[in-house]
Formats: sequence, structure tokens, C-alpha cells
Amino acid sequence: MVALFLCFTLIFATVASKTAPRPSTVDISYRHPHIYYHGRWDTSPGTWWAGSGFKLHIKNLHSLALNLGPFTTSPLAAVGVSLNYQDFVNFNVSAGANHIPILGSSFSSQSEANNVIRINVQGWQNNRINLNSITLNADSELLPYVPEELSFQFIGDSLSAGQFLPQGVDQAWPFLVGEHFKAEHRINAQPGAALSDIVSFGNVHGISYQFFRTEDTGFYYTTDHNFTTPWDFSRDRPAATHIIIHIGANDASQGVSNDEFITVYSDFLTRLRTIYPRQPIFVFTPWGWPNADGTIGQYYAGLYQIIVDKRTQGGDKNVFLVDTTGWVTFPDVFPDNQHPNVPGHAKIAGKFEEWLRVWGLKSHLNDLV
Ligand SMILES: *[C@@H]1O[C@H](CO)[C@@H](O)[C@H](O)[C@H]1NC(C)=O
Ligand SMILES: *[C@@H]1O[C@H](CO)[C@@H](O)[C@H](O)[C@H]1NC(C)=O
Repeated sequence: MVALFLCFTLIFATVASKTAPRPSTVDISYRHPHIYYHGRWDTSPGTWWAGSGFKLHIKNLHSLALNLGPFTTSPLAAVGVSLNYQDFVNFNVSAGANHIPILGSSFSSQSEANNVIRINVQGWQNNRINLNSITLNADSELLPYVPEELSFQFIGDSLSAGQFLPQGVDQAWPFLVGEHFKAEHRINAQPGAALSDIVSFGNVHGISYQFFRTEDTGFYYTTDHNFTTPWDFSRDRPAATHIIIHIGANDASQGVSNDEFITVYSDFLTRLRTIYPRQPIFVFTPWGWPNADGTIGQYYAGLYQIIVDKRTQGGDKNVFLVDTTGWVTFPDVFPDNQHPNVPGHAKIAGKFEEWLRVWGLKSHLNDLV
């Protein structure tokens, strides 16, 4: 048996030596300053929240592998990978070495060009990748990635997290809006979570607590990281230039009263202003739960206007109501759970992009630069 194994190994070695020599590679530590991290990363370093990831700018890239550590979701985490701003392609990765084989024929023709690789976790759960290092071909060069000036921060629940979508958050309206405007985008959206800091559909905290933590509420279901840590907002580079909030569905489901909701939302905005002193904040009204008979189940009707008016009356002129009434109808949702489907998310993204154009995003951008 041993002899047979040796023999087989020899044959394999002979065959292998006749093919092209194995290209030499270089390992880039997760500490390399040219890795541009976005979203929420703990110190391992590992991701939390759908949409967190990193970007690389690489000259002469031919091969790419991610070497992931033990805190990566087992058996796998779904990631989206985009090469040179093309569509995100879906990969499953696990602890250990993960070769990313997107660099096929379309790539080799541009092998002299500088390439931008963008990678993010797609799931609202099972979304932890623990980056140890990145393996590149040795004759590549890792260049600094220069982030965009425009930088969106989205805050929400399942309606923003891409729950039920095949590619998760990568197909959700916040992600699509960010891509449309070629912006940096961070998405903190937790399915089932209320804004109020209450237990809701498996979440031990609400968004008014969790947004300020590194971890999403999935922490509670892990055995290796069953705790949260404060998020250091100075790690968001560049700081968000626009804040978009769509929340309240789960507060309504949990019976949070109108008055309580106004209070918790107003307090949340006050706290956000300590991080984002002047940035425009966009408060979405609910588009509601579309029914097969054409009716829409609404919640907290009129309250979002009151919340925005309170800010305005208090002297904060940079909080805007986004009235999403009529944006989502029954064909735009999965019939069994009334969450937007893939075309539904694209439709919502289109509506909000148009809304931002009318609002004056372009001229606001010019002010930023
Ligand atoms: C990732 O794994 C899931 C679960 O096994 C599977 O359904 C899906 O097709 C896989 N995706 C890819 C791109 O391999
Ligand atoms: C996490 O800790 C809490 C107590 O703080 C416990 O109730 C829960 O079961 C723990 N989760 C796991 C997966 O062990």
C-alpha cells in the first residue's frame, strides 16, 4: 500500500513537472495598509453585517486567493467579488485557502492594467470572513485603493439587508444605489430588528443599540464571539457623507406605540448627530406590506413626517423625508413574505436614485469636493 502510494506520487510529480512551472506567489498580510476595509470588522480581523468587505487595487494581477482563519463561518460564507467594477459574482468561501477563479479569459487580455477587486460578505447571517492574508502572483503590485468622495451609510432591517435574495445584500436597493452613484457604501441592516432596543424576532438588541457596535446581532448565536464591542466610527474612511434610514417595521410588529416610536427615533437621530454632525439624513417612510388584492398594509402612517418636523423645528435643517408611498406593489415582492424580490429591489433603487437627483445630489457632491 505504501509502495503504491509512493509510485502514484512519483507519477504525479513527473506529470506536474512537464506542465508550466507553478507560478511563484506572494502573501499579503491582512495588516497591509493598502487593503481598504469597509463595513464592520472586529480585531481578528473578521466581518459582521452584510456588505462588509475590502477592496484592492492591484497591478498585473493574475491569481488571487483568500486565506481565511478559524472565525470564518462554517461550513461557508457567501461573498460577492467584482473585478474592475463589473457585476458581483457569487463565491462560497471557508476557513483555509480560497482560490478566486474569476481571473479567466476576459481578464488575461487586460493583465497589464491596474485592477480593482471588491469583495464583500452577502448574507445577513453566516457572514463572517476572518482574513489572514491574500495570496497574489509574485509579480503583481498592490497599490493604494483611493476611496470615492461620496460615501453612503444605510441603516435598516430585512427590507434593506437583502434577506431572501439569492445574492443577499449585493442585490438589495442600498447596495444598488451605492453602485449606481459609484459611491463607497456601508450597510447596517438587521432582519427582524426593531429600532427600539428590544428583543425582536431573534435579535437580542434593536438597531438603536446595535448600530454603534462592531457586531451584528448574530454575535449571540456564536460560541466564539458571544459579545459585542463598540464600533470606532473613525475607522469609516471616508466618513459617511449621506445617511439613509429605513426602519420601523419590526417596532410596529412588536407593538411599540406611536409615541414611543417617535421618541426612540428622535433620540437615535440625536445620537447620530454626534457622529455625523452636518451630513444630510434621509428618513424613509415605509412602503408598507403589499397584498395580493392591491392593498398595502401600513404602519406608523404620518409619524416619520412628525419625526423630521421635530428635527427641523429644533434647528436641524438637514433631515429629509423620503416619501416612498407607492414605490412597492405586490408584483415587486415575494408573495409569501412580502419582502421585495430581485426586480423589486432594483425598482426601489431606481426610485431613490431619481429622488436623490431631484434633491440635488450632484450639486451637493460638488460642495463636498
Ligand atoms: C454556495 O453554497 C450554497 C449552499 O451549499 C449553494 O446553494 C450555492 O449554490 C453555493 N454557491 C456557489 C456560487 O457555489
Ligand atoms: C450567548 O450568551 C448568552 C448569555 O449572555 C446565552 O444566553 C446564549 O445562549 C449564548 N449563546 C450561545 C450560542 O451560546
